[in-house]
Amino acid sequence: MKPIKLGSSFSLVASVLARNVHAQCQGAEVITRDIAIVGGGATGTYAAINLKDQGKSIIVIEKRGALGGHTSTYHDPTTGTPINYGLQLYHDDEVSRSFFALLNITVSGGTFPISKIPLYIDFTDGSPVLNYSIPPLNEDYFQALHKYPYLENGLELPDPVPEELLLTWAEYMEQFNLTDDAIATYSRPAVPGDLTKILALYVFNNLNTVMLEEELEGKIIVNANGDLAEPYSNALAELGSDVLLNSVVTDGQRGSKPADGVRLCVSTPEGSKRVIAKQLVFSAPPVLENLEPFGLDERETNIISQFEGGFYYTGVVTNLGLPTNYSYVNRGQKTQSHVASLPGVVMFNPTNVEGTYYYWYTSLSDLTKEQVETETRDTLKLLQKTVAGADANAEPQFVAYKSHTPLHPTASADAIRKGIYRDIYSLQGYRNTWYTGSLLVTGSSQLWNITSQLLPRIIAASEQ
Ligand SMILES: Cc1cc2nc3c(=O)[nH]c(=O)nc-3n(C[C@H](O)[C@H](O)[C@H](O)COP(=O)(O)OP(=O)(O)OC[C@H]3O[C@@H](n4cnc5c(N)ncnc54)[C@H](O)[C@@H]3O)c2cc1C
Ligand SMILES: *[C@@H]1O[C@H](CO)[C@@H](O)[C@H](O)[C@H]1NC(C)=O
Ligand SMILES: *[C@@H]1O[C@H](CO)[C@@H](O)[C@H](O)[C@H]1NC(C)=O
Ligand SMILES: *[C@@H]1O[C@H](CO)[C@@H](O)[C@H](O)[C@H]1NC(C)=O
Ligand SMILES: *[C@@H]1O[C@H](CO)[C@@H](O)[C@H](O)[C@H]1NC(C)=O
Ligand SMILES: *[C@@H]1O[C@H](CO)[C@@H](O)[C@H](O)[C@H]1NC(C)=O
Repeated sequence: MKPIKLGSSFSLVASVLARNVHAQCQGAEVITRDIAIVGGGATGTYAAINLKDQGKSIIVIEKRGALGGHTSTYHDPTTGTPINYGLQLYHDDEVSRSFFALLNITVSGGTFPISKIPLYIDFTDGSPVLNYSIPPLNEDYFQALHKYPYLENGLELPDPVPEELLLTWAEYMEQFNLTDDAIATYSRPAVPGDLTKILALYVFNNLNTVMLEEELEGKIIVNANGDLAEPYSNALAELGSDVLLNSVVTDGQRGSKPADGVRLCVSTPEGSKRVIAKQLVFSAPPVLENLEPFGLDERETNIISQFEGGFYYTGVVTNLGLPTNYSYVNRGQKTQSHVASLPGVVMFNPTNVEGTYYYWYTSLSDLTKEQVETETRDTLKLLQKTVAGADANAEPQFVAYKSHTPLHPTASADAIRKGIYRDIYSLQGYRNTWYTGSLLVTGSSQLWNITSQLLPRIIAASEQ
């Protein structure tokens, strides 16, 4: 699609687009709303519930069969016990508490989910990594973090971006004498890909004050009933037919003025539907494959094409054949700071159902469920040979799985140097489209905060 120019060529392109939308959605039911929300994960659901609470009509278009994004809960078939194998906890703050209050959720204090003794093992050969432990962060780390307050709640970077933030974390630690923090900073789970290549900017943005409060001050809340997906099942019940599950946008038109609004053709299990809305909130990962159907212009394409998500997968496994009193954590025997080799299982963590574990897996390229489960099974068969007290005849059973790919889109040092974050922030409201989500920070509570600050602007645009 060529960039849309104003004037007669705009109306020509628009009418061609309108015909396309019309062709695919011919005779389809028309859904007219103030705001269309694409993606029903942490931020999309937050936007939906709060916009509705503020009297706006909404429709959520979600690709999967449930709301909740990276929140994944498996229910043990015999006891019904919820096992959270994606997201593990929420930050205890006003934004989270008021969201949960809107959803009638009873919360309780939580703890960091390290319940059993970790065994650090090199999963490439099954050998134990001896004398390895994770030290607390040094005061030096906190001093460094506090130099960059603009990385705490998003990525509104100064211009020019300090070059030191574009070093890899290994280079930054070397230059600023933080190498004593290497193991502590590399041992964070749910960071996709090669940890030794991650930019310092993303380390500070992720391992920020809010994240550290959870770990060091216990500022954590969880659902009192143990099911971290409860906010999303309650939200689904509340939103009802305002959510289209298993649905994706196949074609979209977005005008350049608020009055032009947004028109989408949506493929749903009940056939195509036309959505006519004033504004669009895009909360799915903003990568090209997700945004292509929306008729991006050149400016949008140039920005969006520079973000790439990481490759991350999670699942639940039983009958591991390993002693059930440990967690099994992947570390490199000979690698830099003992970071785990890729692709591979990050760790197997026990759950509150004896013998049932959840595992996380990361890679440098996209994998299928079959590939992840085959590799994970091979890892377990290897550990069965090397861990004392294991049963080499046990056949692991894979009972739940989710792909989290593309996870937490990031950009290259060069793109950041050239102002990609300034550019993405400048897209807010452009062509009636608003972006929120894990592009800006990783924790869901912080993302709700960022989203709550964006909502008044979206509402104002929808009232123009
Ligand atoms: C394993 C793991 C553990 C985590 N643990 C925690 C934790 O303990 N605490 C915490 O605060 N954060 C945690 N996070 C991070 C947190 O879950 C994310 O930052 C947060 O979910 C991001 O919210 P989001 O709205 O940007 O994206 P998501 O929650 O991923 O929502 C995006 C939604 O868009 C949908 N979607 C994707 N493509 C399309 C499309 N083309 N059309 C329509 N819909 C689409 C997806 O299915 C998804 O529902 C964890 C993440 C992972 C992967
Ligand atoms: C919360 O409870 C109130 C009062 O009972 C009800 O009106 C509302 O629909 C509930 N919301 C959700 C998300 O369950
Ligand atoms: C591990 O520590 C013990 C005691 O502190 C020491 O005897 C041993 O040599 C160490 N092993 C390695 C591989 O460093
Ligand atoms: C680097 O840090 C260590 C302690 O972490 C300290 O002993 C040393 O003097 C520091 N070196 C420099 C050059 O600052
Ligand atoms: C864990 O269980 C194994 C085998 O069941 C046993 O040999 C080992 O001593 C236990 N470890 C701890 C720390 O309890
Ligand atoms: C929300 O974001 C604002 C602005 O970035 C910040 O000052 C505030 O501390 C955040 N609140 C919470 C609860 O995180």
